[in-house]
Order: sequence, then structure tokens, then C-alpha cells
Amino acid sequence: MANPFSLDGRVVIVTGASRGIGKGTAIAVSESGGHPVMVARTESDLRDIETSLPGPSTVLVGDVADPALPAAAVAAAEEAGGLWGLVNNAGITPYYHPATETTDEEWQHILQVNLRACAAFARESAKAMQAGGRGGRIVNLSSIAALSGLPNLVAYNAAKGAIDAMTRTMAVELGPDGIMVNSIAPGTIVTEIVEDLMEQNPALREKFVARTAIGRVGSVAESAWPIVFLLSDASSFMTGQVMVVDGGRLAAA
Ligand SMILES: NC(=O)c1ccc[n+]([C@@H]2O[C@H](COP(=O)([O-])OP(=O)(O)OC[C@H]3O[C@@H](n4cnc5c(N)ncnc54)[C@H](OP(=O)(O)O)[C@@H]3O)[C@@H](O)[C@H]2O)c1
Repeated sequence: MANPFSLDGRVVIVTGASRGIGKGTAIAVSESGGHPVMVARTESDLRDIETSLPGPSTVLVGDVADPALPAAAVAAAEEAGGLWGLVNNAGITPYYHPATETTDEEWQHILQVNLRACAAFARESAKAMQAGGRGGRIVNLSSIAALSGLPNLVAYNAAKGAIDAMTRTMAVELGPDGIMVNSIAPGTIVTEIVEDLMEQNPALREKFVARTAIGRVGSVAESAWPIVFLLSDASSFMTGQVMVVDGGRLAAA
């Protein structure tokens, strides 16, 4: 029996692939036999990853807020053999203050990158998947922030909540085409930025750890492999879901 977790020969767009969860996902896709189309602004980081991968990959340098980028990513995926999956991962968290202090400009910035760009990538990818007639997978990066009221992140949390609503709507619309659409909602995953934050503030590490059921924060790989599951045939009866990967943090609330 073929391994249902394999991504053998499958082409997957990963936005925000230069660092953190996106980088880990591009590596996990490649290690599963897939061909990642890696999108981000920092070309040097993408090139470094490209040379370390066990299989073929494509580098596409650009800002996800550029309205032309989704179609360019889809074209690159088609050239690489045909688009199978999209991981809508690029996201930002630049502001940390109460809702009463969050400006219109900050709302616009967050929604532009964390929601509008994801919607455009999902739309262009879905159209190509429909045209290809092979089915496909869309995995949207949500967060436990969409499912709880984390303070000081109002625009970020709202964008992630909207991502989950987009996931459910597109799952219903695209189901008949064999295109599965799911969100993944990580808890605290130790990317470079989170590691730096915790090193500067050890109390923060303790706070993050204390909130989980299993007594630790997650690694990038521990968020990347669940994403590979959602990209694979192993999840072929699963769509419109928000899969929480948080070490039991919400369960412990
Ligand atoms: N880490 C966590 O604990 C956690 C928890 C829940 C959800 N998430 C979500 O998971 C996703 C990844 O988070 P992360 O922690 O891995 O973030 P990260 O380490 O800061 O990496 C963000 C990635 O997105 C890219 N990016 C940012 N803005 C971009 C833009 N305008 N155009 C193109 N690429 C852009 C960055 O690359 P360049 O700078 O090179 O463009 C980078 O590759 C986000 O959607 C985040 O909200 C993370």
C-alpha cells in the first residue's frame, strides 16, 4: 500500500518560507518527496534553504502584499509540474498593545498581510487546482489567537478568526472538486523571533510553558509535520477544520 503521508512529486506553494514555520514546512514537504515553491522577501535565506533540500524546489522572491505575486507563484508551481497544495503561512505580529490603542493604519497593515494576501493566494491557487482537475489542498495558518482572547493582539486575532471563516467557506465551495481546505492553529512555536523574545525575558518562557498541558512549547518541526499531514492523502476525508497544535494549551484553559 502506498504511504498516504507521502507528497511524492507534489508541488506545494509555501508562503513565508524563509524562516520559522514556513521554512520548517518547506523542509518537511521536501523530505516527504514534494516540491516546495518557496515564497518570501529575503532571497538569500530562500537560496540557503534551496541548497539544503533533498529534492527539487523553486524560489520566488516577493512581498505577499503585491497583488501580482499569487498568480506568479501559481505559474511557478504549474511549471514545476502542476500545483497540488498551498500553505498560506506568511504572517506578521508587529504590534502589541490594547485594542483602544490600535490605529487604523495598524489594522490595515495586519489585515493586508495576514488576511487579504492569504485570500488572494487561496483564490488563485484554487482556480488552478480546479482547472488541473487533480484535487488539491489549501492549509491556512491560523493561531490559537483566533480561538481565545489573547490581549494586545486585536487585529492579529481578528485576522486569524477571519482566516478560519475563509477556510470553512472555501472548504464547502471546493469540496466537490476534491480540494480540501483546512486551518492549522499553533500554540507557541519556538521560531527565531520567539526564541529571542524568551531569551530576553525568561519569565515569558515560563508563562508559555506553564499554560500547556505537556509542560513545554513546540518546535518548528512539530508544527510542520501536521501541515504535511493536511497536505497529504492521509487527511483526504478532512476539510473545513481548524486543527489545533498547541501542546494542550487550549485544553488546559
Ligand atoms: N510562531 C508561533 O508561535 C505561531 C503561533 C501561531 C500562529 N503562527 C503563524 O504561523 C505563521 C508563521 O509564523 P512564524 O512564527 O514562523 O513567523 P516568522 O518566523 O516571523 O516568519 C515569517 C515568514 O513570513 C515571511 N513574510 C512576512 N511578511 C511577508 C511579506 N509581506 N511578504 C512575503 N513574506 C513575508 C517572512 O519572510 P521575509 O521576511 O523573508 O519576507 C518569514 O519567512 C504566521 O502566519 C503566524 O501568524 C505562529
